[in-house]
Amino acid sequence: MVVAASTQRTLGLAIVSVLFGGWLIYVLVANLRSGHPPGSEIETAPNRRPYFDDDQLEGPRLDRMLSWGLISLAFIAVFLPIYWLREPGRQKNAIVGFRQRAAKRGAELFQSASAPVPPGHLSFGCADCHGNKGQGGVTNFTLTDPKDPTKVRIVQWQVPALNTVLLRFTEDPKMCNDPLQAGPQCEVTQIITYGRPGTPMPPWGVNGGGPMNDQQISDLVAFIRTIKIGSKQAKADDAKLGATDGHALFDAFCARCHTKGWSYRASYAEPGAVDGGGAFGPNLTDGDEIRQFSDPSKQVLFITTGSDYQKLYGARGIGSGRMPGFGGMLSAAQIKAIVDYERSL
Ligand code: HEC
Ligand code: HEC
Repeated sequence: MVVAASTQRTLGLAIVSVLFGGWLIYVLVANLRSGHPPGSEIETAPNRRPYFDDDQLEGPRLDRMLSWGLISLAFIAVFLPIYWLREPGRQKNAIVGFRQRAAKRGAELFQSASAPVPPGHLSFGCADCHGNKGQGGVTNFTLTDPKDPTKVRIVQWQVPALNTVLLRFTEDPKMCNDPLQAGPQCEVTQIITYGRPGTPMPPWGVNGGGPMNDQQISDLVAFIRTIKIGSKQAKADDAKLGATDGHALFDAFCARCHTKGWSYRASYAEPGAVDGGGAFGPNLTDGDEIRQFSDPSKQVLFITTGSDYQKLYGARGIGSGRMPGFGGMLSAAQIKAIVDYERSL
C-alpha cells in the first residue's frame, strides 16, 4: 500500500487520525454541554459581556499591573549587568571550547590507522609515521630509478617531528583556523594539504588530491598545536648538540631538505650527493650564499625567521614559505655556527 509505505508514515497517519478524531469529539461534546441554545452567543460572546467598572480598573487592577512592571524592571536591572559582565568570558570560553573540540577531532584523525574509532569516524594514521606524540619516526618508502622505472629500492625515510613543527613554520591561529582564510601563509596547512611529492608524505587535502576536507585539515593543525613543545624546552633539547660545530648542526636540522637523499642515507646512499648540494631546498654550495647574502647577519636573520610567501630574501630570493625558521628551537650561537658553515660550502 502506498499510503502506509513506511513505518514513519504509518505512525504519522495513526497520530493524525487520533488527533482529528479527538478534535471532532471535543467539538461535539463542548457544543452539547455548554447549555446555551444555538444563537445565544449574541448575548454571551465575550465582547458583549460588561467589563470591570472604573473603580476596579483604576484601583486594584492598575496597582497589580504596576507592581508587576516594577518587579520585571528590578529583574532586568539585576540580570542585565550580570549578563553583560559574563559575556566577554562566555565568548572567550566559546573560542577555547571550539578549539578544544577541533583538537579532539584532530587527535582522532592523527592517530594510528589501526586505532579503534567510533563508527563513521576516521583516523588517517599520521601517528604511524610521525609518532604517537608527533616526536618523529622512520617509515619505509619505495624509490624508483628515474632512468629505469622497473628498478625499485625500498629505503627507510626519517620522518620529521611535528611537536616542533609550529616553532619552525608560521601558523596564525586567528587566520589559519578558518578554512576560508587559510592561504599559503598558513604554512603547516599548506604542507598537510599538498604533502611533499617525492617523499613518503602524501597530499591529504582535496586540493592536493587527498581525501580530507578543509575542516579536517584545520582540526589536525588544532591538534598539532596541543602537542607543540615550548620554545624553551626545544632549545634545551637542541643545546645537547653544542653551539660550535656548524657542520653537525646543519646535518641535524637542514640537510634533510638541502642534501639529496639525506633522510634515507642510512639505508641507501644517493650517488653523488653533496653536503648542501640542493634537493627540496636550493643548492647552497660554491659560494652561493655569499652571493645571496653579502651581509652574513642578513643570512642569520633569514635562518632565524625562515621564508615568507612571496617575500624577498637575500639579493634575489623570493620566499615560498617552505624554508622553516629556526629561531624558536636553536640558539643564536647555533644559528651563527650553521651560517659560518654554509658560507664555507
Ligand atoms: C607514510 C608516512 C607519513 C604519513 C602517514 C604522514 N606523514 Fe607527514 N611527513 C612524512 C615525511 C617522510 C615527511 C618529511 C618529508 C621530507 O623529507 O620533506 C613529512 C612531513 C610532514 C610535515 C612537515 C614537517 C617538516 O618539518 O618538514 C607535516 C606538517 C606533516 N608531515 C604532517 C602530517 C600529517 C598531519 C599527517 C596525517 C594526516 C601526516 N603528516 C602523515 C611522512 C608521513
Ligand atoms: C623543510 C625543508 C627545509 C629545511 C629543513 C631547511 N630548509 Fe633552507 N630552504 C628550503 C627551501 C624550500 C628554500 C627555498 C626558499 C623558499 O622556497 O622559500 C630554502 C632556502 C634556504 C636558503 C636560501 C638559499 C638561496 O640561495 O636562495 C638558505 C641559506 C637556507 N635555506 C638555509 C637553511 C638552513 C641553514 C637550514 C637549517 C637550519 C635549512 N635551510 C633548513 C627548505 C628547507
